[in-house]
Amino acid sequence: MLFHKIEEVRTEVLKWKKEGLTVGLVPTMGALHAGHLSLIKKAKETCDKVVVSDFVNPIQFGPSEDFDKYPRTLDADMELCSKEGVDIVFAPSADEMYGEGRRLSNDTLTYVCPPFFYVNTLCGKTRTGHFDGVCTVVLKLFNIVQPDYAFFGQKDAQQVIIIKKMVKDLNVPIQIIQCPIVREESGLALSSRNKYLSEQGKKDALVLSKILNNIKSCYEKGITDVEALKETAYSFLTDKHDMEYLEIVDRNTLENKTKADENSIALIACRVENVRLIDNIYLK
Ligand code: PAJ
Repeated sequence: MLFHKIEEVRTEVLKWKKEGLTVGLVPTMGALHAGHLSLIKKAKETCDKVVVSDFVNPIQFGPSEDFDKYPRTLDADMELCSKEGVDIVFAPSADEMYGEGRRLSNDTLTYVCPPFFYVNTLCGKTRTGHFDGVCTVVLKLFNIVQPDYAFFGQKDAQQVIIIKKMVKDLNVPIQIIQCPIVREESGLALSSRNKYLSEQGKKDALVLSKILNNIKSCYEKGITDVEALKETAYSFLTDKHDMEYLEIVDRNTLENKTKADENSIALIACRVENVRLIDNIYLK
């Protein structure tokens, strides 16, 4: 079922709840690929009913980011969702979510703002306001759907850490399930933004997963000094790569460490053909 209106979703979910069925939510911005489908499959395994939201959320994009050109493929998304047995695809308009004609600034809208420490690092450093926009839309989706479970990918590791923090801090009665990164056979992490890359760009983009795998194998060989691990990346980079960050931090708290340990995660953001790509790996 495709719904565009909040009330339609609410009415349907209420019926399920009255029957005692469990509900899972998979928030997405559409342009679905096998990464999204892995979340949907996990939701189907875990819950009686599954809602997928398909909404390119304007308030999480900065003014110079790719909101306008972000791929919008609702028909194809619907087909994939129906194959997976999704019960509701919720594809609201921006007006439906934020009110007609509202200026989408935090002068006019109540925002959820995660703590400074969590947003002033990694992706948040260059994407000012991004995680405020993500948390705001995710909490709205939680309130609209009122699921028992919500599914997020490790692909966006900082995002899922911040959402878990929001759920804990605001006592949101929803269980967050984190799902592993789905990759192409080449190692490239699936992303809706891979569509912007040429064939050569896709090859150049393999450097992200190569750098991360190499850091992991160096860690396994006994190198724990974070600076030494990070330095191993430079031999992979060429003028095709515009690295934004490479960090090794605690996988639960995002805290910096000087020595890597079994809780460490290595995260990278790098532009290839001016497409901003991110990836990460658990060192253990
Ligand atoms: P989007 O980029 O569409 O991603 C939706 C979900 O799919 C996220 O939880 C993301 O981590 C997961 N995902 C993307 N690529 C993946 C991959 N290769 N393997 C596993 N999971 C993957 O993330 C967003 O949308 C938005 O910020 C959203 C949470 C929907 C709020 O607007």
